[in-house]
Amino acid sequence: MRKVIIDCDPGIDDMLALLLAIQSPEIEVVAITTVCGNVPVELGSQNVIKCLERTDRLDIPIFQGAKQPLKRDFVSAQDTHGMDGLGETDILIQSDKKIEQLPAAKYLAQTFNKPTEISVIALGPLTNIAQALLLNESLGKNIDRFVSMGGTYKSHGNCSPVGEYNYWCDPDAAALVFEKLGKIIEMVGLDVTREIVFTPTILEYCWQMNPEMGHFLAAITRFYFDFHWKQERILGCVINDPLAIAYFIDDSLCQGFESYTVVETQGISLGQTLVDHHQFWQKAPNSKILTAVDSRQFFTKFLTVLLNAQKETIES
Ligand code: BDR
Ligand code: CA
Repeated sequence: MRKVIIDCDPGIDDMLALLLAIQSPEIEVVAITTVCGNVPVELGSQNVIKCLERTDRLDIPIFQGAKQPLKRDFVSAQDTHGMDGLGETDILIQSDKKIEQLPAAKYLAQTFNKPTEISVIALGPLTNIAQALLLNESLGKNIDRFVSMGGTYKSHGNCSPVGEYNYWCDPDAAALVFEKLGKIIEMVGLDVTREIVFTPTILEYCWQMNPEMGHFLAAITRFYFDFHWKQERILGCVINDPLAIAYFIDDSLCQGFESYTVVETQGISLGQTLVDHHQFWQKAPNSKILTAVDSRQFFTKFLTVLLNAQKETIES
């Protein structure tokens, strides 16, 4: 089992990603860190507790992180995920699970103060990672793999023509991490996540295969479906974050190329990932940019795990 720390801002698709990660036999989630993003960080931490209750994994520690981006004012995505971050389902917390005292950035800086076999999968703005890097400049070299859902190469943005939410929300953090991590950032951007559409047909399949999970998925994605219809006339919703988990588990799911990439921190192209595919800058690669995904292979894995179903049944 490969060990991972998941940094996240739940978030409907973060919740789906956590469900996938925690229940996948290939990985062991050693901790979850939260960051301001889709919702204020305190709400994000509450949503992680809801996930841990659902999966009966209250033993996984939660470290709460940044309340604000490094420099910019905080802009949540509650228009996309609902005021509670879970589609306004207002699920109640049943347990007395506590958040750890240590702030997320310190936890990350301490964990990676020596070489480890632990990877980081970041599903939100990179504020915690940037702060940890400022505390410990060796962070990157002591991480096994670093996967980040964010950015976009050829696809348009989702906050501006060129800005993807996670990097647009805290472009200074993203820029710092790309510049200074010293480890290939495996960038699971909108080019690939836009291919991962959770459709009404897939939802119906979930109802049929596992009515309890189908009900839960319908409840948390209803708001997200409405947002996607209004915004982009998509029937269903793009579920970005679980792809980062599935790709981490099986990297044959996506194809891409290595490149030197910088993140824009100023002006109208805030958060844009400038991917030097053609090596104008003659710099060593700092990222792997994913450009193609087998969405059927993704859904086979995702549904097998979430619905606790047999792979054969799903494929038939
Ligand atoms: C990213 O932004 C958030 O709204 C999602 O949770 C995902 O991490 C997609 O741009
Ligand atoms: Ca997210």
